[in-house]
Amino acid sequence: MSNNPPTERSIQGKGVVPGSGITGEKAGTGGDGKSDSYAAGGPLAALFEPYNVKSLHLRNRFAMAPMTREMSPTGVPTPENAEHYRLRAEGGVGLLITEGAYIAGTASGHRVSVPHLTPRSADGWREVVQDVHAAGSAIIPQLWHVGALRGTTSPLNPGVAPQSPSGIDLDGKPLGQPMTTGEIDAVISSFAEAAALAQQIGFDGVELHGAHGYLLDEFLWERTNKRSGAYGQRTRMPVEVVRAVRSAVGDDFAIVFRFSQWKANRYQERIATTPRELENVLTPLVDAGVDVFHPSTRRHWLPEFPNDDPTLSLAAWTKRLTDKAVITVGSVGVHTEFRGAGATAEKIPVVIPESPEERLSYLANQFAAGEFDIVALGRALIADPMWVSKVRTGQFDSVTPFDKNHHALSGA
Ligand SMILES: Cc1cc2nc3c(=O)[nH]c(=O)nc-3n(C[C@H](O)[C@H](O)[C@H](O)COP(=O)(O)O)c2cc1C
Repeated sequence: MSNNPPTERSIQGKGVVPGSGITGEKAGTGGDGKSDSYAAGGPLAALFEPYNVKSLHLRNRFAMAPMTREMSPTGVPTPENAEHYRLRAEGGVGLLITEGAYIAGTASGHRVSVPHLTPRSADGWREVVQDVHAAGSAIIPQLWHVGALRGTTSPLNPGVAPQSPSGIDLDGKPLGQPMTTGEIDAVISSFAEAAALAQQIGFDGVELHGAHGYLLDEFLWERTNKRSGAYGQRTRMPVEVVRAVRSAVGDDFAIVFRFSQWKANRYQERIATTPRELENVLTPLVDAGVDVFHPSTRRHWLPEFPNDDPTLSLAAWTKRLTDKAVITVGSVGVHTEFRGAGATAEKIPVVIPESPEERLSYLANQFAAGEFDIVALGRALIADPMWVSKVRTGQFDSVTPFDKNHHALSGA
């Protein structure tokens, strides 16, 4: 694969990024900052091609990553939510993945102003979906159960105990009781009901939140899944969720599964330390009916298993191992890596290409090498809803850069 990772030279140099066709100073703009060379045959042009996966019909390869906002005071999306997503759709984003939305159940959530995806919130979501569709984009909800991360002091449904595979938190410390099989069955049903409701509302697919140390990830991770019996088999519960969702929504409705190596504020943790282990996680999910994988990484260019391959990212490995559609993500269009409040310092060196333009040239190379199908952006789209259309027309100079001091970072 000819996709060289950013080097000191390409990161620090101001000249042409090797193999990209993009210059470091004013990428693809011809110097005036206004050329449309990206759309018209430039290095990013392929990312502006349409893409279809089952019920997902996308006008381009850009997605908005799911981002918790806490702007739904009663758990029901408001017109403000609809406007938030509509603006990004009008800004050219092909696929909106909503903020995490709680499935039914008193222990599924932890914060009061996070929206739910239950019959009570259906009308609020319908308005969001209609507005996004009217602006020409597709939209899917992220279905969420927070598991042990509910803790013991959550303001939502106070007094209700957290649910987790083994009655332990992400550090392995005791927290509540292990879920009974009856409770697990109820959560599986809630995921399926939420997916069926999403389909009824008019969403274009669903994303299952299996990342960042929340409930489905707690089943996937050996530190938090100490069960014996069927659900001690780490993929079993997420697989049952995918199966139940598939059976509720039929064959054509796209199911996206988000997973991650890292856990909330624990960036060194992993569910798979080798490609073989990753394959063992992903293959049963493929067999259960996942259409699209969304491996959540904080830097899309970092190699995942450098001893096996010096360049392949987690997205690239996921593509190679599953042959399914894959969404890449992580620090596209921003200068700093994603780090939640309270995160521990990292020991690995963080190599960040100097400019968003250089980052994009590397992204274009990854795409050309077939490493992913869709790219999700988080913070860049918080800062500038028009990011996609500005990049398409080469207007880098007018992009509003993300600044964590100016832009709310409430979620995880
Ligand atoms: C404010 C904020 C809220 C987030 N909420 C969620 C969430 O609800 N679900 C999720 O899977 N990831 C969540 N994330 C992670 C993002 O989806 C994304 O993976 C991360 O921001 C890295 O992408 P970026 O570097 O383009 O920002 C959140 C990130 C931010 C900044």
